[in-house]
Amino acid sequence: MKNISLIVNNKICNVNIEEDLRLLDLLRDKLNLTGTKEGCSEGECGACTVIMDGELVDSCLVMAFQAEGKEILTIEGVQNGEEIHPIQKAFLDVGAVQCGFCTPGMVLAAKSILDKNPNPNRDYIREGISGNLCRCTGYNKIVDAVEIAASYLNNDIDKAKEIATKYECKEGN
Ligand code: FES
Ligand code: FES
Repeated sequence: MKNISLIVNNKICNVNIEEDLRLLDLLRDKLNLTGTKEGCSEGECGACTVIMDGELVDSCLVMAFQAEGKEILTIEGVQNGEEIHPIQKAFLDVGAVQCGFCTPGMVLAAKSILDKNPNPNRDYIREGISGNLCRCTGYNKIVDAVEIAASYLNNDIDKAKEIATKYECKEGN
């Protein structure tokens, strides 16, 4: 057992960990942050995505001891108090959430995209979510949602509505 401290969703956490514990297990089993999902367990699906020191990581591939002293953001830390984050609102607006299994990782991938580029085009968004698999949506609605979220975050509500109308009920989305 080893004791480490790290910051998770703006809170300092001191936890005892086994040497072979993954960051994913630390979050889910020790900190009860079960919004982070486990899919493939081998870095392929992105369901376990979190942001560590500003970068997207697959938490199934990071050992818990590697997170010592780091700052981690999980889906539970994205919203502001009772208020959902504009990215989450945009996902709901356009139906980019179906079964929801990929959604926590997708929202964090979207956050990473928008933190780096407040005005991404659709190709940039597709590239940014390329490490996250979704078996339900066909991806178009997720790309729409990230575009709309960019408008929300830029306080351009008219543009957000325009995008939502443009992609509304498009066959094959
Ligand atoms: S569970 Fe980590 S990438 Fe799939
Ligand atoms: S909404 Fe079901 S996997 Fe993406």
